[in-house]
Amino acid sequence: MALLRLDKYLSDLGIASRREVKELLRSGRVTVDGAMALRPEQKLDPALACVELDGRPLIYTRYHYYMMNKPEGVITATEDRSQRTVLDLLPPELRKLGLFPVGRLDKDTAGLLILTDDGDFSHRVAAPKSGIRKRYLAEVDGVPDETDAAAFREGLVLGDGTRCLPAELECSGGSSCYVTVQEGKYHQVKRMLAARGKPVRRLCRLSVGGLELDKTLEPGAVRALTEEELCTVFIGRK
Ligand code: URA
Repeated sequence: MALLRLDKYLSDLGIASRREVKELLRSGRVTVDGAMALRPEQKLDPALACVELDGRPLIYTRYHYYMMNKPEGVITATEDRSQRTVLDLLPPELRKLGLFPVGRLDKDTAGLLILTDDGDFSHRVAAPKSGIRKRYLAEVDGVPDETDAAAFREGLVLGDGTRCLPAELECSGGSSCYVTVQEGKYHQVKRMLAARGKPVRRLCRLSVGGLELDKTLEPGAVRALTEEELCTVFIGRK
């Protein structure tokens, strides 16, 4: 692996910003291969060096991937002058990582949101033609039925002429339904259901590819994705 400066290594891990690293090293809490490390510019090979903080070994990862259970009422943005963003919900130690949301959920949509600092991954997941399937639970006015499901399968044409790719609508016999789309047009699920005369009252994203929302996460909470979970994002793409 290419050599890295120690301050970059520690800031990539979200342990300290590059400015804070000096202080951390001065306190003598970091060792590299058993020797106290004092210089931020010290070079090391992340795959080989044994770096310890307070005697505990660190495992180097360049990028970070988190799942958030996005609550309603916050916007999917990194900053905003007047409204709360999903980044405002992060605990302080994660704010240092430079995370940003992968794709977008509306302010009033809840559910699975991936946060990362990996621009390439984000692009591959959120690109309109990624073909990654996203599943939503919608509560609507009215009762979606098989004729709606057939129209979804055909590929709906929205009021403004926008043509949607075939999508799945699973009816429950009541006012809730599951919708799975393979693209990410603006307000797509709401506009599709509205086009069938079933305006959305509430919307929650349940999965992205094979990655499912962890139902034990409280609204607003985040947790790191495991490596296996990360791979499931690309499962089942069209
Ligand atoms: N479709 C919508 O209409 N809104 C979302 O937030 C996501 C998908």
